[in-house]
Amino acid sequence: MTTKVDRHVFVIFGGTGDLARRKLIPSLYRLITENDIADRCVLLGVASGDLDDDAYRAWARRALEDAGLEDLDLESWCDDNVHYQQLTREAPSYDEVRRRIEAIEADHELPGNRAFYLALPPPVFPTAITGLGDAGLNESPGWTRLVIEKPIGTDLESARKLNEVVHEFFDESQVYRIDHYLGKETVQNLLSFRFANPMFESVWNRDRVESIEITVAEDLGVGTRAGYYESAGALRDMVQNHLTQILALVAMEPPISFDADQIRTEKVKVIEAIAPIRRENIVYGQYEAGEIDGTAVPGYLHEDGVAPESRIPTFVGLKLEVDTWRWRGVPFYLRTGKRLPKRLTQIAVTFQRPPLCIFHGHRDSCVVDPNVLLITLQPDEGFTLSFNVKAPGETFALDSQLLSFSHSDVYGRFPDAYQTLILDVIEGDQTLFVRSDEVDASWRLYDPLLDYHPEPYRYEAGTWGPATLDSSLALGGKAWTGDDSIE
Ligand code: BG6
Repeated sequence: MTTKVDRHVFVIFGGTGDLARRKLIPSLYRLITENDIADRCVLLGVASGDLDDDAYRAWARRALEDAGLEDLDLESWCDDNVHYQQLTREAPSYDEVRRRIEAIEADHELPGNRAFYLALPPPVFPTAITGLGDAGLNESPGWTRLVIEKPIGTDLESARKLNEVVHEFFDESQVYRIDHYLGKETVQNLLSFRFANPMFESVWNRDRVESIEITVAEDLGVGTRAGYYESAGALRDMVQNHLTQILALVAMEPPISFDADQIRTEKVKVIEAIAPIRRENIVYGQYEAGEIDGTAVPGYLHEDGVAPESRIPTFVGLKLEVDTWRWRGVPFYLRTGKRLPKRLTQIAVTFQRPPLCIFHGHRDSCVVDPNVLLITLQPDEGFTLSFNVKAPGETFALDSQLLSFSHSDVYGRFPDAYQTLILDVIEGDQTLFVRSDEVDASWRLYDPLLDYHPEPYRYEAGTWGPATLDSSLALGGKAWTGDDSIE
């Protein structure tokens, strides 16, 4: 039972949308149940449809049942604590929303704490934020928090404009920018892995690390999201945010405390230290028809809503350098793609080989395999460290073996990222949310690449991306760690 949650109204704009149905309402409900805080959390869905409270409660109940939550005590929470307010597209009245919130607060005897979650299409963010501000909803007798989802802008200029609108009405301390990767338990675990285990920290630098690879692979295709994806592509959709956030956690310096701003300050420093990415160090790919798990899948150009000549990359591989004392000269390789063989988010830290090989006769040439630390963030969370042992026998032969740890074997199910993030919003912990200067630094890095649209290399769905990737990114002649060699 958590004690840090104040009694509040959780307002979802886009309250009948896909995100609310699939993620927000189930996560909110789970955390209410698991933390026993039903009496502290009143939900107000706001959307354009003409519904009343009862119709919305029935809708919310269906969303919970669809999420497999039918065993829980749905009726009482839904009937007592779920409300709905219409906000038409034609004549949206935020004053009416404010009056409704005040009425709900009076009925439930709430002290005026409010979270506003904008589960809306990004182009609507500025209007919604201005609407909230003009109606005086940026202030309240208690706390007021604004939650916005990625994408935060589509380039540096639009991100800055959005942040300006946000700051016109809200203080940064009220703003929670979600990158849902930061809510994943294993992504957070990177902090404990690094800063609670000095054994690793002492080798986490240019003296010992040869290269770092970050892979975010998906087996899914673009699905029904071509409308958005055709103007985004993999760089905006995944690299600018999720992969860069993972990189920041991998490469940051130890913060002086576990305070949200200390951690975020260290992350910004890393992003700011990344050297401009050279175009020759980027490989774009686009999937063609192929097979995933024995099922034939269409190529990107044949997905619904995709332009027949589209050059939008569904795969990005790139190499970058972090110009700090710790990392100077260590290449970081990032890759992400849709329709790869499997879902896998993984960090591979390859350590340097021994400076001198003394095992002559072990192989034709005297080579010792490097130690590789693989941190798997999803789906089989855990890590493995490869190390060399002597294979039994009279001749001296080395063999690489794994030391492994699996989170699920020890801890079972992880909370959903949204569950973690929503709890943090209502507890007022900004650690896992992206600060405006982080967004700015990340766009400054990728913005110069946004007008680079080479013809993407094609790759067959179900393979690890364009064949040219390894040679183009000069991985030092070795294949990406991860691929088929890794379970
Ligand atoms: C989203 C992207 O942010 O992350 C999607 O817009 C992608 O394109 C998704 O599929 C991946 O998230 P996860 O949690 O399934 O790895």
